[in-house]
Amino acid sequence: MKFILFTIALVIASASGQIIRPNSLPGLISIVRFQNTACNGENGDSGTCLAEAECNRRAGTSIGSCANNFGSCCSFKFTCGGTTSQNETVFVNPSYPRGENGTDTCQVTIEKQAKVCQLRLDFEEFTLAQPDENGLCTTDSFMVRTTVGERLPILCGENAGQHIYIDMGRGSANPVVLSVVSNGDRVTRRWKVKINMIPCNNLDMAPSGCMQYYRSPSSIIKSFNYGSRIESRSRYLSNLRYTACVRVEENFCAIKWETESANSFSFGAPFEELSLGNQTRLGGATGGLCSQDDFVGIDQGSVDGTGPGDDRFCGNRLLEMNSVISRSKPFMLKVRSNHDQTLNAANSQQGFSLRYVQLPCVI
Ligand SMILES: *[C@@H]1O[C@H](CO)[C@@H](O)[C@H](O)[C@H]1NC(C)=O
Ligand SMILES: *[C@@H]1O[C@H](CO)[C@@H](O)[C@H](O)[C@H]1NC(C)=O
Ligand SMILES: *[C@@H]1O[C@H](CO)[C@@H](O)[C@H](O)[C@H]1NC(C)=O
Repeated sequence: MKFILFTIALVIASASGQIIRPNSLPGLISIVRFQNTACNGENGDSGTCLAEAECNRRAGTSIGSCANNFGSCCSFKFTCGGTTSQNETVFVNPSYPRGENGTDTCQVTIEKQAKVCQLRLDFEEFTLAQPDENGLCTTDSFMVRTTVGERLPILCGENAGQHIYIDMGRGSANPVVLSVVSNGDRVTRRWKVKINMIPCNNLDMAPSGCMQYYRSPSSIIKSFNYGSRIESRSRYLSNLRYTACVRVEENFCAIKWETESANSFSFGAPFEELSLGNQTRLGGATGGLCSQDDFVGIDQGSVDGTGPGDDRFCGNRLLEMNSVISRSKPFMLKVRSNHDQTLNAANSQQGFSLRYVQLPCVI
């Protein structure tokens, strides 16, 4: 086995022109890193493909094999009090896969590596207590602390499937601290957050200012804690101020935003149908009418994508037909909510689940 690895190491090393240090076999083995690609373990969990010795050295757990059985699919799970500098580390609650039901503060630290500029957190599982009647995460909260970039929103509720990007800065050695604070035993919390380190100058980096980044011609974007209606509560959170960005695919010129289902947009006042002169418009509101409360921003959005359009959308429907087309690039969805959720809660607003589809250029 060692001999095979050794031979492969030599071949790879010489093919890529790396310097060979003949007196250090471990050094050679570490060259055979299977490029640290992602892999799936026998239990369906994701890990990083490493040489078995490397996985052990870094205190990982082997969850299967990879690279035609030459590698070990290595998982790095850690929890409260932990520190990591490893890619693809997974932050779980202490009793995972069981839940927590007490009062606790759980904190982990992610150290900055020289060539890493961003982190991407994928919430594979995320259940914390719901926000209070003001949309604030006062019972439980998930917080990201970093000394560079904008402050990230404090999260709670149900957020499985969501992701966020965190700026780590170029030069600084500042760590990122993730913390989960939970209060009381009336809720069972569970989380499993995959941490991906994105190298600087890499195509996987999200553009500056984008807390969420989608890279496909079509996908669904939901507000945090989106889910079924809870009577007299707003599901979406207060104090949001972030942007979800969509990578413009080649040969696509416009983007269409539509509700995932008939009622999957209820974000901010007004709550009733609007009367305009002798007409009652069965639409959501736009522009200045959205400035009193919460709204999503889509630049130059209109029903058919022509004309100046509007840039703010709110109410219980997305424009007139639950769909908005925008030709303004880059494609972005700005999300803004204020600190007061009283009326939104009274109207049991859910937030949004929007499907976007990029539209090809018409010549
Ligand atoms: C972390 O892993 C991902 C997925 O395998 C990879 O794309 C990325 O380049 C890795 N980051 C670093 C810093 O190696
Ligand atoms: C919370 O945990 C305690 C101790 O493990 C247990 O006695 C209690 O029944 C749990 N409460 C709920 C609501 O699950
Ligand atoms: C609304 O009023 C305008 C003029 O005052 C009229 O032309 C139009 O037909 C009216 N629309 C409806 C739906 O009654």
